[in-house]
Amino acid sequence: MSSPSAQPLTEAGSEIEVNLTVNGTPTSMRLPARVTLSDALRDHLGLTGTHVGCEHGICGMCTVLVDGQAARACLLFAVQLDGAQVTTVEGLGRVDDLHPLQESFGRHHALQCGFCTPGFLMSSYDLLSHEPDVTREDLPAELSGVLCRCTGYRNIIDAVDEVAEAHRDGIPGPGNCAARTLVGRTPAGGSGATGVTAEEPLAPDDTSAPQRIELPSGEPTIAIDLTSELTSSPADVARVLGDVRLLARCLPGAELTEELGDDRYRGRARIALGPVRLSFQGLAQVLEQRADRIVLNAQGKDTGGGSAQAGIIMAATPSGSGTSLHAEASVFLTGRIAGFGRSLAGDVSKRMFEDFARAIDQAAAGAEPEVSARPPSVFVLLAGVLRSRARAPFVRLTRALRRRRSQDR
Ligand code: FES
Ligand code: FES
Repeated sequence: MSSPSAQPLTEAGSEIEVNLTVNGTPTSMRLPARVTLSDALRDHLGLTGTHVGCEHGICGMCTVLVDGQAARACLLFAVQLDGAQVTTVEGLGRVDDLHPLQESFGRHHALQCGFCTPGFLMSSYDLLSHEPDVTREDLPAELSGVLCRCTGYRNIIDAVDEVAEAHRDGIPGPGNCAARTLVGRTPAGGSGATGVTAEEPLAPDDTSAPQRIELPSGEPTIAIDLTSELTSSPADVARVLGDVRLLARCLPGAELTEELGDDRYRGRARIALGPVRLSFQGLAQVLEQRADRIVLNAQGKDTGGGSAQAGIIMAATPSGSGTSLHAEASVFLTGRIAGFGRSLAGDVSKRMFEDFARAIDQAAAGAEPEVSARPPSVFVLLAGVLRSRARAPFVRLTRALRRRRSQDR
C-alpha cells in the first residue's frame, strides 16, 4: 500500500493566499480554507452576479467557468484553485455591449426574477462553446443542470437555441474580461480576510499603496454632471484647485491624512445615514492639475464592507465677473451604501457636490470653508433634495398659470 502523500496541513481558520485570475484580472486573496469559490467571488471580490441557491450542487445558480469549464462555485473551495482562470457572469458581456446569449435571453423573455439567469447564461455558454452543433431537442437535457423556479423553460430553450443557430461556427467569447479593478471587501462579522486585486491593495494602512488608481469598467452606479456658479474670480478658484490640501478641506466630511508622493494622497471621508455612520478610508490620485482643471481618481473602503470608487473632473471657466465650476464624476459603489439606490445616492451625491462648490467659493474668497467637522448627514442633504423636489411642481404650475394668463390677455 502506498503511503499517503505529504500534503501540508492547515490549521482550521488559518488563512491561505489564493491567486486567481477573475474575468481577466489577476487577484490575490487571503482566505480561510473553508471559503467556497462562490463566497470568495461574492463576499471578497464583490462579484455578486454569481448567485447561490442550494449550496449543495443541485440548482446550478452558482455556475461559473473554471479554466474554461463550467463548475459549481458552491462545491469548490477557493484555495483549491490557486492559479486558475475564473469567468463569472460579470465577465460575459458589458452593459453597453451584451453577449449574444444575454441579448437573446432579453429578447425571448427568458427570465422573470432573474435568480437563475447567471447560472443559465454561464451553463449555456459552456454548452455552446463545447458543443456548437447541439440540437434544440437536446437542449432541455443539456441544460437540466440549472433549475428555474419561475420563468418556465420554453423561453430559455428558445433563447439558447437562437444563439446556437446563429453561431454554429463558434460562439463569441466572454466580452468583458480585461485587467481592471476588483473591489475587495471584508465580510461583516467575517474572518477579517480581504479580497483585493494584486494591483490594488485597498487597505488604508497598507504601505504598498498602488501606483495608479484604476476605475472599474462599465456603467457607474452614479454619474454626476453639474455646474455651479461661483462669485469668485477664475484666478481665485484656480488657487483652490491648485492646492489639494485646501481642496480636501472644502469637501464635507473629508480629511486628507497623508501625502504619499506621485500625486497620491491618503484620507478619510465620513457620512451619516441616521444612526448608520459610514467611514471611508482610502486613496486619491491627482491625474491632471492645471489652473482651470483638476482630474482625480479616488477609492475607499467603508469599515462595514462597502466601497466607493470615483473618477472626478472639475473645470473652471470665466462666467461674467465670477466662475462657472463644472463637475463630472463617475461613482462606483458596492456594499450597504449601494443599497440606498441609484436615485437616492445620486441626489445625495449631487447635493454634496453643490456644498463642495460653495465651500470652494468661500476658500477662493480667502475665507475658511464652512464645512462642518461632523460627517454630513444624508437626512440633512435629503431635506434639501426633497425641498427642491417639492418646490418643482409649484414652480412649474406657477409658470404654466402665468403663460395661460398672458395668452388670455
Ligand atoms: S448554489 Fe451551487 S448548485 Fe446550487
Ligand atoms: S427567472 Fe426566476 S428562477 Fe429563473
